[in-house]
Parts: sequence; C-alpha cells; structure tokens
Amino acid sequence: MQPLLKMQGIHKSFAGVAALTSAELEIAPGEVHAVIGQNGAGKSTLIKILTGVYRKDSGEVAFDGRPLHVQSPREAQDNGISTIYQELSLVPLRSVTENVIMGYEPRTALGLIDWTSAHARTREILAGFGINIDVTQALGSYSTAIQQLTAIARAVSLNARLVIMDEPTSSLDDREVETLFGVVRGLKARGVSVIYISHFLDELFQICDRATIMRDGQTVAVREIADTTKLGLIADMLGRDPEEIAAAGMTELGGGQRETGEVLLEATNLHTDRMLRDVSVTVHKGEIVGLGGLLGSGRTEAARAIFAMDRLRGGTVSTHLHPEGFSNPAEAIRGGVGFLTEDRKAEGIVPDMSVRENLTLALLPRLVRRGTIDRVREEEIVKKFVDALGIKLASIEQPIRELSGGNQQKVLLARWLALEPDLLILDEPTRGVDVGAKFEIQSIIQEYVEKGVGVLLISSEFEELVEGADRIVVLQDGVSVTELQNPGITEQALIGAIAQSHERATA
Ligand SMILES: Nc1ncnc2c1ncn2[C@@H]1O[C@H](COP(=O)(O)OP(=O)(O)OP(=O)(O)O)[C@@H](O)[C@H]1O
Ligand SMILES: [Mg+2]
Repeated sequence: MQPLLKMQGIHKSFAGVAALTSAELEIAPGEVHAVIGQNGAGKSTLIKILTGVYRKDSGEVAFDGRPLHVQSPREAQDNGISTIYQELSLVPLRSVTENVIMGYEPRTALGLIDWTSAHARTREILAGFGINIDVTQALGSYSTAIQQLTAIARAVSLNARLVIMDEPTSSLDDREVETLFGVVRGLKARGVSVIYISHFLDELFQICDRATIMRDGQTVAVREIADTTKLGLIADMLGRDPEEIAAAGMTELGGGQRETGEVLLEATNLHTDRMLRDVSVTVHKGEIVGLGGLLGSGRTEAARAIFAMDRLRGGTVSTHLHPEGFSNPAEAIRGGVGFLTEDRKAEGIVPDMSVRENLTLALLPRLVRRGTIDRVREEEIVKKFVDALGIKLASIEQPIRELSGGNQQKVLLARWLALEPDLLILDEPTRGVDVGAKFEIQSIIQEYVEKGVGVLLISSEFEELVEGADRIVVLQDGVSVTELQNPGITEQALIGAIAQSHERATA
C-alpha cells in the first residue's frame, strides 16, 4: 500500500547546530504511528518541518504520493495535515468557539461570522469529546486539560487526513486520556492517520500500530508495536542494550519511609474563591507529601494558595520561619518556598530570554554583590545545573524557546533548585521529559529531600506519586478527604481512595 506520508533524508540545522541529520518517517493510511526519542532528539522539529513551521535544509517529503511543499501551518492544514503542538498555540483571551474555528468561521450570506452556528458547531464538536462547557467563555478560563482537548477538537474538526499530536496527554488525567484514546481510535476507524508523540511509553501499547524511534536527530528504528516491549523501545531510544538498562534498574525508585524532621509547612482548612473549600496539609523536613486526586480536585489551587498566588478566604498557611504565612509569592520565595508551576508557557518560561536568565530569574537578588550581579557566580550555578540535569542546549545564552520541550522543563526545575528552598512545591515536575530524564529528575528530588528539603508533589501520574511520596493527601472537589501513609501507599490504594471519595461525594 502506498504510504500516506513519506519523509526521507531530512536535514535541519539551527545557526549551524544540527537538529536533524537524516530523519525518516513513513506513515500508512489509517495508522496510529508513534514517534519517540529522548528530549532534544528532534521529534518536534521533524513535525514542524512537515507542517511548514520550519524549512528543511534538505530531504524529501511526499504526501499521498506527491511531493509536498508547504510554507505554513495553514497550508499544511489545507492539505489535510492538522497539528496539536506540544506548546498550546491557542489564544486564551478569545472564546472557546473562536479558538476551535479560528480561520474557518462559518459566514452568513452577508459574509459576516455566523456566531449562532459557530457556537453550535463548537458545542457539537466538544460534546463528541465528552466536554460540555460554555463555548462563549474565554478559553483561558478553563483548565489546561480542557484547553488541550479544545486544540484537538480544532484539529479534528478540520477534516484532516493526518492528525499530529505532540505530547497530547501530558496534562490530562486518566479519564481524559481515555477520552482522547477514544478519539484516536475513532480517527483511525475513519481512515485518518495519526502521528502520536509521547514520553508515556505505556500509552503506545494501547493505541499505536508502529513506532519510529529517533536519537540525536536521526531515525534509528521503526518497530511494530505488537513485536516490541517497553524495554526494547527504551533501548532503541538510548542506543543501549536492553539487558544493560534492565540491570541499571531505570524503572524503580526507592519510595520513602524516612525519618522526618520538624514541621515545615502547615496549611489548615484552606478556602479560596478558586475552588478550595477545605484543604489541610502538613509537610515536614525531609519528606515528600503527594497531593492526589483527579483533575479539578484542587491540587494546583492548593499549591497556589500556599504560595500566596491566590487569596485565602479562610484557613491558614504557616511555615517554620513564617508562622503568619505570606502575602505574595515574592515573600514566599524569600521565605524559602519554591513553586514549579504546571503551566510552563503561561507562568514559567520567558521565551525570549536566555537559558541563563530563565534559570537565575528568581535567584538574581541573591547574586548581587555591591550593586552588581556576580556574573562569575551566576555562570557557575547555571553550568552546574545544566550539567546535573543533563539539559541539552547549544549555549546558555540561547533563548529558551529554542530548547526542546523537555529541556525547557528542566531549566524551570533548576530555577527553583538553585534557590535552595526549604520547601519545594512541584506541580507536574516531569511533564514532557523523557523516561531517562524523568528518573534523573526524580533521583535529584530525592537527594534534596534527603538533605532536609520538604516537597509537596503534584502529579497526574499515579506511579510518580506512589513511588515518590512518603504520604499522599487525597483531594476531592476542593476538600482534603483522606490521607495515605507509607507503608500502604500503592497504586491500588491510591486509586481506591480517589474512587471512594467520589462515591461519597455522589452518594
Ligand atoms: N528554533 C530553534 N532554534 C535553535 N535550536 C532549535 C530550535 N528548535 C529546536 N532546536 C534544537 O533542535 C533539537 C531538537 O529539538 P526538538 O524540539 O525537535 O526535540 P524533541 O525531540 O521534540 O524533544 P522533547 O521530547 O524535549 O520535546 C534540540 O537540540 C533543540 O534545542
Ligand atoms: Mg518536542
């Protein structure tokens, strides 16, 4: 059968630094095809060449048997290639409807936008994903997950023949992932092909037919999913022997049952306008406390309240050094608290600033000596973290937007680690990082905890919570409903606690 897409010998350099050297990708009609590889392997770059965001230096692209030369994502779209980028490319201030049909608005006979049918059409598309929301509201007023599903809805609604999803599930909870998988299967059944980029290798076994593995800008293997294993895929990604990787125990972390120290944080009965009703959580020195719960249970909101990003309407936050709590995030930072937010685009990175500047953003006041910034010390710190976290870059002076998604995430984590906080709030710390880097990040977090740092950990991945946390506080609809202690923290127990709290809520 003729492939729907064939990319061959693709080369691409940025300012003399090669991002792709001989990348290949072949997609069959109606196939769900994974593209995997470590952070910075070139996955997103290959996709951006396909969709006209970047120009290739050389190589061939054929779509449906004909050479394809697209100059812009719009042209790719008009050729039936739809993309959902890793970084959302939506407009938060515009309505949901505008975001879904942007550029393709239905018109009235007079040529005006037909809002009635636009809203109706959007409602219908989203309902197909099990999302029933007010489509006239600003997209930014909804959760990241809703925003992401909106992006997918947009792509799907445009009669695509090839839908590209670059890390679509990184901000979705289990239920939403199932919804998404349903959509992917539906697309496949209609003969639409899907390119699926993800660091969650388990997912591939549920929905993908084949996988292309990239390493250092090259395509190194193409596998039938049915004929391979997770370990096999990791071995391909790293270019190592499966036995060697199994021996290194890259999939296990010594989950804690540690001696913990004095109380670092005590938050009681938190109540905010942003959905918290009654959340209490305590973190001691040298322990990791997980916040468990489904999307919308109030995990991120609890973190925001503790960090004084949102005002409390009730309840108290007190830390060992600041019994009165904080009135704003700057005070919290000075008080030894760090907060890695889940939304790296909106609240995290400053895209045009360099990696160095992004990394030392919060640290800068401490680097000032007699009115000037100690550049030598700054560079030392930046280099230390680039090294420790294995951040892949051409230069620390490079704008951070040029880094791959996973590497941007590492810079943000480094920003907070560099502050040497007593209490570190981590909201989805390993989102978008590859399996190897994820393990490294988790190990580094454990190291800090062993040195006495307290961590409040939020993760949609049950595995990450269960392996990392000493205790897990389970939230449900803005209320902390129960707590799991070690020993006794297992994935089963966590799922059980969450399910139980839901039954109670609906009973
Ligand atoms: N606009 C750009 N300017 C300079 N370098 C870039 C640019 N875009 C990508 N790169 C570099 O190309 C390489 C490949 O990046 P790419 O984003 O394709 O990786 P990826 O496989 O998608 O990684 P991740 O899993 O982290 O998303 C990286 O080294 C990155 O820094
Ligand atoms: Mg990427």
